[in-house]
Amino acid sequence: TRVAILYGGRSAEHDVSRLSAANVLKAIDRTRYEIVPIAISRDGRWLLQASSVGDAAGAPVSEDGVEVALLPGSKGRLVAVSRDGTQPDPVDVVFPVLHGPFGEDGSVQGYAEVADVAYVGCGILASAAAMDKDVAKRLMRESGLAVARSVTVRRGEPVSFDDARASLGLPVFVKPARQGSSFGVSKAEDGASFAVAVEAAFQHDNKVLVEEFVKGREIECSVLERADGTLTVSLPGEIIPAGKHGFYTYEAKYLDADGAVVKVPADVPAAVADRAKEMARQAFQALGCEAMARVDFFLRADGSLLVNEVNTIPGFTDISMYAKALAASGIGYSQTIDVLIEHALA
Ligand code: DAL
Ligand code: MG
Repeated sequence: TRVAILYGGRSAEHDVSRLSAANVLKAIDRTRYEIVPIAISRDGRWLLQASSVGDAAGAPVSEDGVEVALLPGSKGRLVAVSRDGTQPDPVDVVFPVLHGPFGEDGSVQGYAEVADVAYVGCGILASAAAMDKDVAKRLMRESGLAVARSVTVRRGEPVSFDDARASLGLPVFVKPARQGSSFGVSKAEDGASFAVAVEAAFQHDNKVLVEEFVKGREIECSVLERADGTLTVSLPGEIIPAGKHGFYTYEAKYLDADGAVVKVPADVPAAVADRAKEMARQAFQALGCEAMARVDFFLRADGSLLVNEVNTIPGFTDISMYAKALAASGIGYSQTIDVLIEHALA
């Protein structure tokens, strides 16, 4: 089975994707699969890589790679713009290890659909819905799940700090609607920081959420669907922000080695763990997810849970929760990849 591993990409999470892909390249069973590493440059070109081994910076991105494209309707045929005219063999499955817009949001999934090639993970609709925090919250709320209160603002619309404070309290979080890894997210406590936060979020998207601050712990469940449709929901793990970071920022996630501690399983009462698992299953279904997702929660001191968000291509970096939480539930990293590829080909 020839598996095209896609990574890098056009989103702000390019580097995170490279780290995720390095781990996938390490864990994937090379006796079962032939790896076709395709790095997507920051400007969106697909570059076939000669090496499929990552380093500290993540999976390789060499500009020497031959530029390739999937041919529409061709069941995985790649066409190459190579100097000597050689064409790569077709791939059987595409594994997007991409985070954020143009990768996790349904666009690459749509491209694979057009190419008529199997791909790992959620389909177009769930990918797009989960990427958009505004749409995702509406779908989850409609299914009866608790989510943080928020106001959605489109570019050009007036946004008043006093209204936000009156309806949501202080502080508030300001987030781009479609972005990951906390890019463009900031906390605002007053009019001045609010203006800066809104401006920062609009740099990433033309839709922004102003959200209430939820005081609580961050816990996350991994969901893995088998080819026959059965779901495994992991016990929750916990992200414990450490040191100087006020919340789980990009720096705390990836740049500061002591920025956060990932604890699996989370030290929570069994009843809370059970409720998180049930809510994770419900969120997965509410968004129409397939194959995999990581569902992130806030756990308040009174034991209540809110769904923060659903990630359809969760991080696979060294510090990432998705594989760790599944491992604690008895499904190892390579086996997770096997299940995902089997699901894609089913
Ligand atoms: N967006 C990052 C990769 C995550 O959710 O894990
Ligand atoms: Mg995310």
